[in-house]
Amino acid sequence: MLTAIIVAAGSSQRMGFDKLFALLGDKPVVAHTLDAFDRAECVDEIILVGRDDRLAELRDLVRCVELKKVRHVVPGGVHRQDSVQVGLGLLAPESRYVAVHDAARPLITAEQIERVFEASKVHGAAALAEPITDTLKRGDQDHFVCGSVDRARLYAMQTPQIFSRDILVEAYDAVAARKLSITDEVSAVEQLGRKVRLVPSDEFNLKITYPRDLLLAESLLNRRSSP
Ligand code: CTP
Ligand code: MG
Repeated sequence: MLTAIIVAAGSSQRMGFDKLFALLGDKPVVAHTLDAFDRAECVDEIILVGRDDRLAELRDLVRCVELKKVRHVVPGGVHRQDSVQVGLGLLAPESRYVAVHDAARPLITAEQIERVFEASKVHGAAALAEPITDTLKRGDQDHFVCGSVDRARLYAMQTPQIFSRDILVEAYDAVAARKLSITDEVSAVEQLGRKVRLVPSDEFNLKITYPRDLLLAESLLNRRSSP
């Protein structure tokens, strides 16, 4: 059984307004994200972790768009890793695999979720990732170039990241014990010295961060829905 934890409890500071409720086409960002997980056959249940002050709207949305797999809608924590931890505490006893996904990535597709799940079944841990194509430079405090970073074999990490339950729970326990600060689950699992399989993304899966991302996401969704 695969549980998906969708983290939606951020404060959208770089956007300036709650980005997860911004409309993309006919529905909010978070509804697109939930819809992909609801449709993915490999996903059995969804735990939605939201902001305390938006829980009622999230519950309404789950009802309105007729999502079948959402089992919990619960408040998250101060940092992303705290929100994931809340989700981990609510896993169904029979859940053997756990996917964690940013609600702010609404372009995720059921096919991509299935691909990462297949890799996680073989390797225990897998994450969607985008090979870096830009030339990379390090900058100093005054915004002058002060070095190069070889981009060969560098990846930008995305979500979903999917793990066997035992690995992810053990990794998060280790993070808590060592009081580490992490921005994704791969960083937690790495601490255990476990191998994580990279699954190169073959669709756009951008994280909505700035207002310009909404325009891009909307045009990509339009292109997908036109024949
Ligand atoms: N997130 C969360 N709980 C937090 C912080 C973030 O559930 N305490 C979620 C966000 O809602 C988002 C995902 O983690 O779906 C990735 O975070 P990010 O894109 O950084 O979103 P925000 O933290 O909301 O944005 P910002 O950093 O600009 O404030
Ligand atoms: Mg953030």
